[in-house]
Amino acid sequence: MSSLSPPAKKLWWNEPIHKSELLWISLVFVWGMVMTFMMPYWHVVGKQNLGTETYGTTPKAFQAATQAFVDQYDTGRTEGPKNFPVVAPPEGGDVYLMARLWDWWPIVELKKGATYRFHLSSLDWQHGFSLQPANINVQVVPNYEHVFSLTPNAAGEFSVICNEYCGIGHHLMIGKILVVD
Ligand code: CUA
Repeated sequence: MSSLSPPAKKLWWNEPIHKSELLWISLVFVWGMVMTFMMPYWHVVGKQNLGTETYGTTPKAFQAATQAFVDQYDTGRTEGPKNFPVVAPPEGGDVYLMARLWDWWPIVELKKGATYRFHLSSLDWQHGFSLQPANINVQVVPNYEHVFSLTPNAAGEFSVICNEYCGIGHHLMIGKILVVD
């Protein structure tokens, strides 16, 4: 083996570390520690990334649970370009929201100030639940059911954007949550 400009001292690992290199290594180490600390800190202080309970499921089981939820609380109304059912669960009830290529199904109607238990899963591969403009983010993967509590504090129409790239229809994967007073 050779190189165009071999080092003058071949046993370079025996040379003392240059000050500037030590400085860089220290900076990287300190920044790494800051970032590591930020993960638990931001989880507690930041309100965007919810701590979800996570359970094992299967796409088939989750689809069945979501279908049962829709059948039970269907308002009979539909919304959006695909005429998805609008489902209004009772206050304090469970909400099932299913991610799939490239939809969030169904459309949910909630009451402002009431607390709901959200259940999220995916039928195919990884999607991201990003509730806008509240900026709440939950990663949604198949075979796992993510559960968290959510209390809408404002009435209106909220979008659920997919924030994990999931293929050619990713940018069209927009769900809707309605909140009524
Ligand atoms: Cu689903 Cu991106």
